[in-house]
Amino acid sequence: MRASIIGTGAYAPETILTNHDLEQKIETSDQWIVERTGVRERRIAAKDQATSDLAVKAGEQALLNAGVLASELDLIIVATTTPDMFFPSTACLVLHKIAGGGATNAAAFDLSAACSGFVYALSVGEQYILSGKYKKVLVIGADLMSRFVNWEDRTTCVLFGDGAGAVVLAPTSETRGLLSTKIHSDGSLWDLISVPGGAVANPASEQVLADKSNTIKMKGTETFKAAVRTLEEVARETLSENNLSVSDVSFVVPHQANIRIIKAVAERLEISMDKVIVNVDRYGNTSAASIPLALAEAVADGRIKTGSLVLLLAFGSGLTWGSALIKW
Ligand code: ACO
Repeated sequence: MRASIIGTGAYAPETILTNHDLEQKIETSDQWIVERTGVRERRIAAKDQATSDLAVKAGEQALLNAGVLASELDLIIVATTTPDMFFPSTACLVLHKIAGGGATNAAAFDLSAACSGFVYALSVGEQYILSGKYKKVLVIGADLMSRFVNWEDRTTCVLFGDGAGAVVLAPTSETRGLLSTKIHSDGSLWDLISVPGGAVANPASEQVLADKSNTIKMKGTETFKAAVRTLEEVARETLSENNLSVSDVSFVVPHQANIRIIKAVAERLEISMDKVIVNVDRYGNTSAASIPLALAEAVADGRIKTGSLVLLLAFGSGLTWGSALIKW
């Protein structure tokens, strides 16, 4: 038995913030942002939207595409690094809101692994399916990064956007489905990307607001190098453990952080960019949403179809990284 993805969904808020819009707010240029990151525009959630609202929309679309009712769900996992509040979990708020409160039989919890969160949550959902405990698991990656960005810091604010993506997992006895999931962590590099203030170690205070330590701090160059190294490593590890080579892969869906990271990994793996799903130009880095958003788009437009071998590659704060290999 395997766990199989039987439906995908995605949601990005309507408001588009272009590089030209950013030129009006900070000292930057469309040319710099496009050349250094590949991002042209990103979506920004409305004031009355929280992470759970984005997650609900992606989740409802995944349920619709899977032909599964909310009442059939056994479990909802929301991977997020920008929860609505400290508690309750965003997943419990999703449970309450999705399909008009229809997910009455599901348990729900959040999973925190920053930009790798979706692949982590997929691997957790897979275990519940493989153990036979659950039959329908909704896995959502949702982040509302725009609320944790310092809009005066040009080195980070140009990178991020808001969004959500979701899949429904169910057991299958066919040979397709999740062939493997891998997750890795290295806490010694925790300070490459963090939001250091506003939580327990450095609670909300006037000082936190004054020095904006409740916003994203990132060591860009070190993060860039760590991302390229770990993404290549986990791709090779995954393929070799499954006795596959790069040429067997139909599509790679990498974390959408920066087009230069994506191209560097593709070059090292010697995989053509035609086989790499990219939407960082339209959404920026949507953290845990980035992989399921790109995956859902590629499924919806027919690039990923029955028989495709798909390799998801995740990297994020923590550090965390991982992969999922899927026979569609
Ligand atoms: N517009 C114009 N100039 C800028 C901007 C901007 N938006 N941002 C930085 N610059 C300037 C810098 O100030 C610097 O100027 P200086 O030389 O006068 O000091 C110059 O451009 C070069 O800056 P670098 O930081 O060296 O630029 P780099 O090529 O490294 O690109 C970037 C920076 C895009 C952040 C890159 O390092 C990167 O993408 N890193 C990885 C980011 C990433 O993946 N983050 C997400 C991780 S996932 C998660 O869990 C959140």
